[in-house]
Amino acid sequence: MRINIAIDGPSAAGKSTIAKELCKKLGYVHLDTGAMYRCTALKALRQGIAMDDEDSVCKMLAETEIVLTPDGRVFLDGEDVSKAIREDEVSMRASDVSKLQNVRRDLVKRQQDMAAAKGFIMDGRDIGTVVLPNAEVKIYMTASARARAKRRYLQNIENGIETSDIDTLEAEIKARDEQDMNREFSPLRKADDAVEIDTSDMSIEEVTERIYELARPFIETEGTE
Ligand code: DC
Repeated sequence: MRINIAIDGPSAAGKSTIAKELCKKLGYVHLDTGAMYRCTALKALRQGIAMDDEDSVCKMLAETEIVLTPDGRVFLDGEDVSKAIREDEVSMRASDVSKLQNVRRDLVKRQQDMAAAKGFIMDGRDIGTVVLPNAEVKIYMTASARARAKRRYLQNIENGIETSDIDTLEAEIKARDEQDMNREFSPLRKADDAVEIDTSDMSIEEVTERIYELARPFIETEGTE
């Protein structure tokens, strides 16, 4: 049967990389929910809207189209912003905007509608706890802040994104963890039924294989539900 897989965890733990690999293996579609918070922050930044002005951000969001394509690109009101949303400035602002309850309400609804057909691997902070509480497989992916900063640094270089040095990235990652774990609405936390995987010393293949093995019994079960 087709299932949904939820992957949560702190910034730069490798969630998207692993989700993409698993999608190739399973023929599933990856939904990067962080990209939706990033789009919200980018548009607010461009329009000069303060990230704590909930009414204005929500009004803006209600008139905003965010499209995630199966090949991993992100379109904001028709513009390809796949690269622009990865800038360091947008990362922190996305964390700011994700604190707003009504922004979460809007984006969570869009995410639930997208995943209703099953066959999705969704990554974020609240997928196993709020967006897809019935996901068949839930993963809580972690790695040390240093390992995550190194990975993000290499990823930025590879993608041609202007990057801070590893120490600065590590400090930013810790600040974002702190904010995402301690916000009032849907803070980042492991769902009770999620399997925790620390990827600090694991290869992409090892992590992918681990999750694949967890998903296999469900996928091999007969039936559509
Ligand atoms: O996964 P990411 O780093 O692209 O996410 C950017 C920010 O968006 C992150 O700091 C917190 C927020 N976010 C969230 O609150 N809930 C999600 N499901 C995904 C991201």
